[in-house]
Amino acid sequence: MACLKMRCIFIFLLVLGAICLYFSMNNLTPLKEEKFVFKKESGVFLQLPEIDCRQNPPFLVLLVTSSHRQAPARMAIRQTWGRANVVEGRQIKTFFLLGATATQHDMTAVSQEGQRHGDIIQKDFVDVYANLTLKTMMGMEWVHHFCPQAAFVMKTDSDMFVNVYYLTQLLLKKNRTTRFFTGFDITNGLPIRDKSSKWFVSKDEYPWDRYPPFCSGTGYVFSSDVASQVYDVSESVPFIKLEDVFVGLCLAKLNINLEELHSEQTFFPWRLSFSICRFHKIVTCHFIAPPELLVYWHALESSLGKKCPIILQNPKGKKSGTP
Ligand SMILES: *[C@@H]1O[C@H](CO)[C@@H](O)[C@H](O)[C@H]1NC(C)=O
Ligand SMILES: *[C@@H]1O[C@H](CO)[C@@H](O)[C@H](O)[C@H]1NC(C)=O
Repeated sequence: MACLKMRCIFIFLLVLGAICLYFSMNNLTPLKEEKFVFKKESGVFLQLPEIDCRQNPPFLVLLVTSSHRQAPARMAIRQTWGRANVVEGRQIKTFFLLGATATQHDMTAVSQEGQRHGDIIQKDFVDVYANLTLKTMMGMEWVHHFCPQAAFVMKTDSDMFVNVYYLTQLLLKKNRTTRFFTGFDITNGLPIRDKSSKWFVSKDEYPWDRYPPFCSGTGYVFSSDVASQVYDVSESVPFIKLEDVFVGLCLAKLNINLEELHSEQTFFPWRLSFSICRFHKIVTCHFIAPPELLVYWHALESSLGKKCPIILQNPKGKKSGTP
């Protein structure tokens, strides 16, 4: 009798244990797999720029990701490629994308800067590198809601040189209106699993072995309809904090292919040594500090319309390359 009772208790405990294990696993699994899901309508705009795109549709809108610490870079851009510009009779407008800053002091400074220049688009997400996708998507949302009349949009960064003259010429020559996307093409990109890298992505974040084709976030250009389409599908692709890859996932879903703007390379996600003739024939170049930007831009503008020799590289990097 006693033996049977012991056996019953043993079996009871075993079943109880199994039930406990079952529930604890079921509770843990969803927790572990809980991922950030992008929500289109989340957050509110803290600042909107002064522009009426219906009245005066720009040919090209430049959206520049920036942070509160980069006020000097924004000032340099406003004096150079971001200056209210008319190129080949087409209007070009530049706006800066920012999130919510850490301190009230920074918040006030950015708000005053926006009031003075009317060129800041800001939402209330936390402004950190890991939220760069939210920043880019804020730009897409802004185009979708406030400026679908623009012909083209470029997304670029604050440490870039952008030759808006050459870009405009090439876009006019290309004569595309819809489903156009171009930049520095990264096809067969591999997720970086090295934890020390700035671009580290865990298998939890992105379990697949390859990225879809995407364009380097340092500068990509698209017809404005793409903004609305990317915005539309953004909730239905896996979220990833690398904004350029995220846009690539949206493009793959939309079956929009990356295209060339020119048969020769014009988008450079790295630094190039400056020469006037070389910079005449590029669209972007990376890692340009504000003081350099001012010098390079002045040199470029004052040499517009001058002919360059066929040899693009000028070893001295001086103006002597122009005849
Ligand atoms: C990104 O912004 C959201 C919304 O403000 C915030 O909840 C989240 O913590 C931010 N991400 C990081 C890594 O700080
Ligand atoms: C641009 O494309 C449109 C049709 O998409 C065509 O009617 C027009 O002639 C083209 N313009 C040039 C300059 O090629």
